[in-house]
Amino acid sequence: MIPLIDSFEAYQNAYQRSIDTPEEFWDDVANTFTWKQKWDQTLNWNFTEPKIEWFVGGKLNITENCLDRHLANRGNQTAIIWEPNNPLDAVRKLTYAELHEQVCKFSNVLLSLNVNKGDRVCIYMPMVPEAAVAMLACARVGAIHSVVFAGFSSSSLSDRINDASCKLLITADGMTRGEKKIDLKQIADEAMALSPTISNCIVYNHKSFPIAMQADRDHDWMSLMDKASVQNEAIEMESEDPLFVLYTSGSTGKPKGIMHTTAGYMVYTAYTFKNVFQYKDQDIFCCTADIGWVTGHSYIVYGPLLNGATTLMFEGIPSWPDAGRFWSLIDKHHVNIFYTAPTAIRSLEVFGLEPFVGKDLSSLKVLGSVGEPINEEAWHWYHKNVGKGNCPIVDTWWQTETGGILISPLANITPLKPAFATLPLPGVQLVIVDEKGEELHGNNVAGNLCIKFPWPGLARSIYGDHERFKTTYFSTYENKYFTGDGCKRDEDGYIRITGRVDDVINVSGHRIGTGEVEDAMNEHGYIIESAVVGYPHDIKGQGIWAFVICDREHHSYEQLCNEAKAHVAKVIGPFARPDRIQVVAALPKTRSGKIMRRILRKIAEGDTSNLGDTSTLIDPAVVDKIKAGAELIR
Ligand code: WT7
Repeated sequence: MIPLIDSFEAYQNAYQRSIDTPEEFWDDVANTFTWKQKWDQTLNWNFTEPKIEWFVGGKLNITENCLDRHLANRGNQTAIIWEPNNPLDAVRKLTYAELHEQVCKFSNVLLSLNVNKGDRVCIYMPMVPEAAVAMLACARVGAIHSVVFAGFSSSSLSDRINDASCKLLITADGMTRGEKKIDLKQIADEAMALSPTISNCIVYNHKSFPIAMQADRDHDWMSLMDKASVQNEAIEMESEDPLFVLYTSGSTGKPKGIMHTTAGYMVYTAYTFKNVFQYKDQDIFCCTADIGWVTGHSYIVYGPLLNGATTLMFEGIPSWPDAGRFWSLIDKHHVNIFYTAPTAIRSLEVFGLEPFVGKDLSSLKVLGSVGEPINEEAWHWYHKNVGKGNCPIVDTWWQTETGGILISPLANITPLKPAFATLPLPGVQLVIVDEKGEELHGNNVAGNLCIKFPWPGLARSIYGDHERFKTTYFSTYENKYFTGDGCKRDEDGYIRITGRVDDVINVSGHRIGTGEVEDAMNEHGYIIESAVVGYPHDIKGQGIWAFVICDREHHSYEQLCNEAKAHVAKVIGPFARPDRIQVVAALPKTRSGKIMRRILRKIAEGDTSNLGDTSTLIDPAVVDKIKAGAELIR
């Protein structure tokens, strides 16, 4: 059994021990898992190369820990509950025995298509249990899964397939979210036309949408499964063999494939799941994220299954068929732990209390928040109306790169403070640094958030580009992992995350690089140049504001807006559609040609009282013009 912290004092002791003797601390956690061979070195690291290795020499398969080892005691317990988009459609439940069988069969399917250890497999799926089956089967045969969120466009999908040279694509005919139909196979076909490394494509028939199947390449999921044996022995993996790649956005360049490895990720997600949420046997855990993001990987699939938990997978959206959908879901499935994003809370706040009428939420014990800073008002609304004042909110701060939660209260253990992620988990040695990289000790300080010691869940590399891994995370400050976030530590030593300090924006919990949106905008024929920044948005957290220079002659402002927004949605995905487009005659550029984004950010935020030094601009007068223009579209 994974060690459970059960009091604040126990937390303080565990934390201290994790700093004093990290190897012993993590050995104890790792020893609770099933290994084919134990490790001989717990940790081998430096943050200069960087090299991060945990449980070196160990051999295991993560799916034996998620599935096989639960069969004896929990074979008939529900592993996954699936709530469909349409509440009138049938719920599905898979026991641990059934999930194990599905994964074994699908592993055999993968092997039959010559997918082997180290091969990359792209998964572009709706929120259905088969998505989890596909991930786990990859892990069982040693293939590296790369899940791409099903809201991404065909060109984003093919970029990701190509970056990792995936040989297999697993997708579905399509899906419906709310009332919107999405033709996944059609998008996949467009992507595969640009992705020559894909030799096979498995299509799960979810909605019986009409699709085209290419005889030599496309296979029907069910037909393959019908022929597959239920016997499958999990392949032996080294601790540091890659488990998955997951693409995320940064300040510059194309999205990067964050690479996680087997043992460290397993130990860390399992440990944090149990301790942060204080998961108790038989609890129903519901995380509303999509498996296309790291939250879905760590806290819908791996963390819960490693703990033998019952995890609820929700296909739909919070607002359909009405704004009470989350509350019906909790009532219907007697959810005990509910984990969602601030943007969802804020979007539901505007509907008031009517959607709660008749919904019994008394099963709830713990609430969670993830993905972006939660503002105090949303925190209180969530606490009062969803938790009825009785449920702690765990505001969990972490990132794709960190594998699991790093800063969070432990439910019912850590005293709470609204909008604070509170304290680091055991093993997390956070430091706050100023611009010069000087560590800021003590309380009442604010700066950039770094971590100075490895924890097992830390990403190991960027797929195919270790140099970029080093420059992005380990070069800003010597011997420290730089998170890209700013934070403050208050008078009680509590951490409040203040948001990104780089050119990454967080729109409805979706992480987007402003450069990606600019690249997409600039491809549009009307647009000569663009600069994109985030601005505070009541519901989305941040909205996207694009300043564009365009050849105005040929079209109206409305036409430009519609076309440019549609173009970005097509190139990246609908979630990256800009909210505001401001046509400008010139952008504020320095003599060296750099756009001064700081100024644009301030203008978009509506905070122009102090724009700082503008003397290095080629033409400081452009600033006033942009300011005036901003007021017209605000
Ligand atoms: C960025 C990471 C964490 C998994 C989902 C997002 C922001 C995340 C919080 C929080 C304030 C948060 C940070 C971080 N973020 N959680 N509780 N409070 N900010 O993973 O897509 O890799 O995004 O999300 O800015 O750097 P991601």
